[in-house]
Amino acid sequence: MHQYISGLSAHEGQQATLKGWVYNMRVSKTNIFIELRDGSGFLQCVISLDEVGEEAFESAKRLSREASLSLTGEVIKDEKQIGGYELRVTSFEIYGQSPEFPIQANETVHGVRHLADRRHLWLRSKRQWAIMRVRNRVIMAIHEFFQEEGFVQMDAPIFTGNACEGTTDLFETDFFGQPAYISQSGQLYGEAMAMAQGKIYTFGPTFRAEKSNTPRHLAEFWMIEPEMAFYTNEMNMDLIEKFARFVVNSCLEKCKVELETLGRDTSRLEMVNKPFPRVSYDDSIKILRGEMDVEGKNAIAVQEKDLADAKVAIEEKKADIEAREKAIKAGMKKGPRKFNESKILALRSEIADLEELCRNIPGWIESAANFKHGEDFGDSDEKLLTRVFDAPVMVYNWPTKVKAFYMKEVDGDPDYVKGVDLLAPDGFGEIVGGSERETDLDVLLRKIKEHDLPMEEFEWYLDLRRFGSVPHSGFGLGLERMVRWVCDIHHLRETIPFPRRYGRLLP
Ligand code: 4AD
Ligand code: MG
Repeated sequence: MHQYISGLSAHEGQQATLKGWVYNMRVSKTNIFIELRDGSGFLQCVISLDEVGEEAFESAKRLSREASLSLTGEVIKDEKQIGGYELRVTSFEIYGQSPEFPIQANETVHGVRHLADRRHLWLRSKRQWAIMRVRNRVIMAIHEFFQEEGFVQMDAPIFTGNACEGTTDLFETDFFGQPAYISQSGQLYGEAMAMAQGKIYTFGPTFRAEKSNTPRHLAEFWMIEPEMAFYTNEMNMDLIEKFARFVVNSCLEKCKVELETLGRDTSRLEMVNKPFPRVSYDDSIKILRGEMDVEGKNAIAVQEKDLADAKVAIEEKKADIEAREKAIKAGMKKGPRKFNESKILALRSEIADLEELCRNIPGWIESAANFKHGEDFGDSDEKLLTRVFDAPVMVYNWPTKVKAFYMKEVDGDPDYVKGVDLLAPDGFGEIVGGSERETDLDVLLRKIKEHDLPMEEFEWYLDLRRFGSVPHSGFGLGLERMVRWVCDIHHLRETIPFPRRYGRLLP
């Protein structure tokens, strides 16, 4: 039997065998320090010449990053170590060597393409390890929440004969000679099942042929779509709020190590515990244009301040780099020099990010100030809007023409529909889209025509309105968007094991 790093505290002072991979190593004259990873965590293992003898010591010296091995030794408490323990190795066995592993322990030294091309190996790095564990927690929390609330999980089909979210971004395929699509959304099937089970949720892969190379779009992503009979959009919003709060709190509670590894400022996540502001589309536009303040904050003024702050920060970081370079030139021991060199690299990349921000903000301000009523929000508009709120915000009552055919018209005002988007704070933007569903058969018939959708393919869906139609609502959460927000990651490519996006099918 071997032990796992995560369970070592039960073996303090005893012999234990660990099996894993070399994450990092450092060799001195008499000791080899291996940072072992075994999937459950990371741990320092010390192989000393005195303990293992010359022959074994020499063979351990030839280990390198990602070589696999088993190590047996004594578990020693050591507060200085991550995880609080260390293994004093008495013997070890090498499984597989790993000459010249192409990714360094500090993955930030590599370019994005280098890492993305090696996703199958990149998954082993500490940061990716942490992200995938948060993803796992988010998935489990979602199931916990809905199961606890009395929802029934359903699997919607992947091959579909009809579009749900408009025809522009459908992946077409051949289904035994018949044209078919791979699903954009399980919602329409979810609506059928909600009429059978009351409250359901789907949890499955969905596909969008968006040729948009943005940090927020994948071609294949996982969506969770609850659908509830007898729910109005107000009840829908209550549920969205409770749900998002539950999932984030579950991560805060159960992913402390992971979030720390990622350097996540968790105080920014704690704000899920404040009430989520609900703002109509019309008001959100006033906020965007700077015509309406939120608790004394003006969206345009906030951006202007962000810009000024970024400029100051760039100058400070440049001065910091200069001082470190000077100190290195003046002479420094190897340890501190290495430390300062990597700090300089980090500062340079922070400056590059800030410079990009400085280039972007003026355009964002311009587009927000000139935002036309009736348009959908772009990435930057969502960024501006969320900056003035200290919690996730729900925007409701959207212009009919930017939303899908199935959304219910606002009573007496067919120019608006009862849609709702949940925007995550700090610029993360839309993570949930939902609505109350149209139940009026005549309105639906008209909408299907207006959206230029083939009527015969929607006949089965219309049956839901012909037989015991009831008010109902639902929403869709993008799993990767949620993980991105919880982990504070710039790009969705890191939130899914093997991303499928425009221009990326391998590995
Ligand atoms: O807003 P969307 O398109 O809504 C629907 O699909 C509805 N049928 C949901 C429903 O009411 N049952 O997508 C829902 C969510 C978005 O808020 C976003 O989080 C995510 O799915 N999403 C994407 N995630 C990654 N890449 C993409 N290309 C995405 N498109 C949507
Ligand atoms: Mg949407």
